[in-house]
Amino acid sequence: MYTLLSETEIAERVAELGRICTETYRGRPLTVLGVLNGSVVLVADLIRTIDIPHQIGFIRASSYRGETTVAGQLTVSTDLMPMITGRDVLLVDDIFDTGRTMVKLLEVLKQYQPASVRTAVLLWKQGRCEVEITPDYHGFLIPDVFVVGYGLDYNDDHRHLPRIAVLQPTDLGSSDANQTEEGDI
Ligand code: IMP
Ligand code: MG
Repeated sequence: MYTLLSETEIAERVAELGRICTETYRGRPLTVLGVLNGSVVLVADLIRTIDIPHQIGFIRASSYRGETTVAGQLTVSTDLMPMITGRDVLLVDDIFDTGRTMVKLLEVLKQYQPASVRTAVLLWKQGRCEVEITPDYHGFLIPDVFVVGYGLDYNDDHRHLPRIAVLQPTDLGSSDANQTEEGDI
């Protein structure tokens, strides 16, 4: 495992995103809506750099997983989501990979008639997009490597790492993951 983005680099960039959000949403009814579980660290840091009143909430996306999460059969749960009708939603996820998760979430959110929806991710993986949309805000462009930390997992481990690290083939040992198990992404 090696470090791709340090704690300091991430903190500086998140603070920049927070400043942009502060100006963009000043005077607006903002809800920062995190995608569980991967966005929890980013949401916790980002909201503390958005210097205007706003609400937070979470939505859950799950997919059937093997060793690494794929957005194949994605299910979205809105059980924990606060009321977003008429509000400006900033949908926050850990990473934009194929983009399929984001597309599915946007489809679901539309049904609740928010005033607006923009998307923000910490990482935007290059060369992987399979959809028509791109994130409105991103922290960093990264190459097509498998990363963990700062909320991102491998088989639900490593989310707690304060930096972004690249998992190498030697780190990807045998796994307990059940191919039919459903898990948060
Ligand atoms: P999507 O392909 O954009 O729909 O991304 C699906 C999900 O896959 C993301 O929300 C992450 O949970 C996961 N994912 C994609 N790339 C990585 C990675 O490099 N590390 C950890 N999780 C990833
Ligand atoms: Mg994941």
